[in-house]
Amino acid sequence: MITLGIETTCDETSIALVKNGKQVLANVVFSSLLEHKPYGGVVPEIASRAHLETLLPCLEASLKKARLSLKHVGLIAVAQGPGLMGSLLVGLSAAKALALALKKPLIGVDHVIAHLYSAFLSGRQPCLPCLGLVVSGGHTLIIHMKNHDRIQILGKTLDDAAGEAFDKVAKILGLGYPGGPGVDRLSRGEDTKVFPFTRPFLKSDSLDFSFSGIKTAVFYKVLELKKKKPLTLKTKKQICAGFQEAVCEVLVEKTVRAAKSRNLKTVIVGGGVSANSRLREKFKEAERKQKLKVIFPPLELCQDNAAMIAGLGTALYRRGKRDRLELSSYPDFHYLMKPQ
Ligand code: KG4
Ligand code: ZN
Repeated sequence: MITLGIETTCDETSIALVKNGKQVLANVVFSSLLEHKPYGGVVPEIASRAHLETLLPCLEASLKKARLSLKHVGLIAVAQGPGLMGSLLVGLSAAKALALALKKPLIGVDHVIAHLYSAFLSGRQPCLPCLGLVVSGGHTLIIHMKNHDRIQILGKTLDDAAGEAFDKVAKILGLGYPGGPGVDRLSRGEDTKVFPFTRPFLKSDSLDFSFSGIKTAVFYKVLELKKKKPLTLKTKKQICAGFQEAVCEVLVEKTVRAAKSRNLKTVIVGGGVSANSRLREKFKEAERKQKLKVIFPPLELCQDNAAMIAGLGTALYRRGKRDRLELSSYPDFHYLMKPQ
């Protein structure tokens, strides 16, 4: 079965064609990032306009790449939320129009949970049940995934998401938006101990996270240093390395703890921050020491993409999920815990 996936939750317009929920035949992504850069963050009106302009070209490019036509499509999957309402509306309207015109089933997919599906498109097939860590710009979640439609949230961030903390620290250091890739790059090979920021919440038994304190600690450290002299590139690099190490350590420790507490041997990671090189290294260490199997998505599927939407849509369809054309979008993460 060929599933057409549509992703328009934020600043990426993406259309993908995925075969049997496993094989990515095409995954075309257009980002309006450059248009938002002067404002230091995503401007909702610019994002929805960009989706309108690029959705059909993305669809054409995706079909061309996969050497398919719309008549080969068996299912339409669309990111229903969470995201910017105007942006979601563009994707949802396109999905409904296609489902109606092609007379094919339509499935709404949660964008945050779909991030974890990217690990199922890595070529290494994760076993279910498993433990999921979502680290994106808007969400940080530890999830017990019993099946694609049976998930339980074990931990979440109480304030900033991991990606958001990376973005804010990058802004404090004048590194531009989005900040994660810049912090990652500057940290490489640097001493992580020159600025040993406190590991937030690590001592607590809770599986929740809190990253706003560490961001504030970076802010005051930069203020203190700047009073003496302007920051050198070397100092910026060391601050990035200290911050990144603290965040990654908390993410890995809590994930391992959660996996052990549920006796789960497989961990899957998804979301923009799963591209982080230090996070990948630290999970590799944990894989060795803790006898866990840790599966990351391929780098191109860490960012927002429609392949994960098509993949999860296929899995949910197989589990019997069907949606109607009345399907509506939602702005916030509202995945309801299903009974055990
Ligand atoms: O999952 P995503 O593409 O969008 C959301 O659904 O939020 O995540 C975007 C986030 C941004 O905060 C960005 O700074 C972060 O992922 N990010 C990274 C890296 N690449 C992207 N954070 C740390 N290291 C990276 N290499
Ligand atoms: Zn995302």
